[in-house]
Amino acid sequence: MARSFLSLMDVSNEEFMNMVARAGYFKTMIGQKKAVDQIMGNKYAGLLFEKPSTRTRTSFEVAAERMGAHVLYMTPDQLHLSGGEPVKDVARMLGGWLDIIIARVFQQSTLDEFKKYSKIPVINALSNSEHPTQMVSDFLTINEKKKRFKGLKLTFVGDGTNNMANSLMLACAMTGMDITIATPENYMPDKIYLQRAEKIASETGSEININNNVMDAARNSDILYTDVWTSMGEESERNKRIHDFQGYQINSSVLDAARPDAIVMHCLPAERGNEITDDVIEGAHSVVWEQGVNKIYGAAASLEFALKSDE
Ligand code: CP
Ligand code: NVA
Repeated sequence: MARSFLSLMDVSNEEFMNMVARAGYFKTMIGQKKAVDQIMGNKYAGLLFEKPSTRTRTSFEVAAERMGAHVLYMTPDQLHLSGGEPVKDVARMLGGWLDIIIARVFQQSTLDEFKKYSKIPVINALSNSEHPTQMVSDFLTINEKKKRFKGLKLTFVGDGTNNMANSLMLACAMTGMDITIATPENYMPDKIYLQRAEKIASETGSEININNNVMDAARNSDILYTDVWTSMGEESERNKRIHDFQGYQINSSVLDAARPDAIVMHCLPAERGNEITDDVIEGAHSVVWEQGVNKIYGAAASLEFALKSDE
């Protein structure tokens, strides 16, 4: 039975950890040039992207092809979506031809509509509220670097309202990691995500904190994580955000406040000089390039989960 992967809220802690483990498996298999081409043998995968992408698009396309699928990349202007054809009509068509849809959308609700009307599994390749497949590869990277999850402290510096903050809160809680969100007062995380993460954290024994002071938040961190101050779709707020997020930056002073063996992560693309300085992203603590390359293994594990899981 197939299953959509639209949100980390829809998967159990165990299912998430299993996807991370499978990402490691795919890394070994693909690294050793071993065949994984039966997993999606002859399936048709459609990537429908409303926003640009360097990493997610390429890693999903290559992962799906390595797994034996045929892949189509589509943008709204290539279909009739941008001309006003309703999502539910497009979804019914794609569902009749394809085996799986990987979609990057402005609104999470668009994914729900695709799932409902296509009747095939849909994977969230980033929405306004979550980036769940990024978590699969990021937690592979964390496991590679730190060899554990429980007891680690991750500090996210930046926009507490964005998709990365939501996803990191959930993924940290699910794996027993502590997370501190360092964000300005008027960019506090969404209550729905915060409350859900707190509930999971109370079961796994992790801690979720919000702190407006970056230096305080960075203290004792094993992982410093940041993301752009202005996410895709928020471009009209760019000037205000550049003003509001001054100081919410990972730089050498913030890195010095973290643990000596702290790693620095960024989902990318990065805006050097805003949320992260050039010396830190290029420096010895940065794992962002390995993190980005690992996205292909997270994509492979997400595709396998969606096609194989029981509903
Ligand atoms: N991290 C990430 O999703 O990057 P892209 O926007 O390049 O896909
Ligand atoms: N928060 C960013 C993440 C990009 C991978 C955005 O949504 O644009």
